[in-house]
Amino acid sequence: MLRWKELYEECINCHKCDLGDNRTNMVFGDGNPKAKIMLIGEAPGADEDRLGYPFVGKGGQLLTKALLALDLKRERDYYICNVCKCRPENNRTPTEEEGETCLPYLRNQVALVRPKIIVCLGATAFRFVIDREGKITRDRGKWVEKKGCYLMGTFHPAAIFRDESKKALFWQDLKSLKEKYYELIKIENTL
Ligand code: URA
Repeated sequence: MLRWKELYEECINCHKCDLGDNRTNMVFGDGNPKAKIMLIGEAPGADEDRLGYPFVGKGGQLLTKALLALDLKRERDYYICNVCKCRPENNRTPTEEEGETCLPYLRNQVALVRPKIIVCLGATAFRFVIDREGKITRDRGKWVEKKGCYLMGTFHPAAIFRDESKKALFWQDLKSLKEKYYELIKIENTL
């Protein structure tokens, strides 16, 4: 397992797949690396590629605002990153191979953050992190526990723009995240 600095260096120099040759910026992660919550998306979009930070485009702003409404702040309460660190052209879904190639970096990030809660945003993150056979429409909102960490998938925020009917469930899942977070904090404070 690499430490933060070495891991970042490795990612910024990575050309293990074609995505590395076409990026403007490698998008490593953002937020509090000591947080209990980790949010994982698919891959950077155009805005993220331009700016070098995850979830800063339209979908990201929706997510950030929704979390803020629950008093969950990026710089304090969560760390956020993606399965793939580089943007696939035209925002296509990363291939299985691209995801697999990048996955060790994500695993290393998880090992460094040691989150108590992981929320996967969208089908790609869900399949790479929680369940290869998973279906986000069927499995979202359900907590599973793995080695003392609670994991849940929900819709990708970009999906909310495409289909307004997903909004209520997305909000429900974020509220469930907050409840799980507060539950864990309460338990820790009583130990
Ligand atoms: N979509 C993602 O999955 N990740 C980002 O960082 C931005 C958009």
